[in-house]
Amino acid sequence: MTIHIGAAPGEIAETVLMPGDPYRAKWAAETFLEKPRLVNEVRGMLGFTGSWKGNPVTIQGSGMGMPSLSIYANELIRDYGAKTLIRIGSCGGMQEKVRLRDLVIAMTASSISTPSRGIFRELNFAPCADWSLLQAAVRAAEAKGTPTHVGGIYSSDVFYDERPDLNEQMVRHGILGVEMEAAELYAVAARHGCRALAVLTVSDHLLTGEALSSADRERSFADMVEIALEAAFA
Ligand code: ADE
Repeated sequence: MTIHIGAAPGEIAETVLMPGDPYRAKWAAETFLEKPRLVNEVRGMLGFTGSWKGNPVTIQGSGMGMPSLSIYANELIRDYGAKTLIRIGSCGGMQEKVRLRDLVIAMTASSISTPSRGIFRELNFAPCADWSLLQAAVRAAEAKGTPTHVGGIYSSDVFYDERPDLNEQMVRHGILGVEMEAAELYAVAARHGCRALAVLTVSDHLLTGEALSSADRERSFADMVEIALEAAFA
């Protein structure tokens, strides 16, 4: 057990999918895993372990924002031996070509700061995805026929942004979407020699103001979980 995860040693798989929402972890585990069992409920941040096509998988909520994700990613890797961590979540679209329900696979994640920032001091570390996972996720998305964009995203510290000029710069520099966790996931994974990827569905759009209904979000979420699982075990 760790401070934030109550699983016994051996109850966390080497492959972990990380949605922000713990209830999404429950839904995904019950929908896609064989024999899912609850392995963590500390602070209601649910985690389940089961198997997919015979491969052990844990689906553990990360909470919202980089400080929360950082706690879970650190404990999963350092204390439980996780090796492959895939964030499955949503993002706000930042380019016209990126439509609601499309998939965004994050090659890199820009940020103002991450919980790892202090380590790097004056250096601007460039958090990037694991290539083998990225390539496999793109192939899985193509096979499914899901409209997919691959490129840079922006990991923001704020949802209610009082600095719209920063978003404008991200749009101007071709950033595909904004979310709040990937840059720290990539940094923590890199530090520990693990593989990481963020696979995101576009739930709202900064240029048009549109947003998905919760039923639509669930449908896109299902495709994304399958693509993440295919990528993990390609
Ligand atoms: N996640 C989903 N949509 C988002 C947005 N507009 N800003 C930050 N995180 C998000």
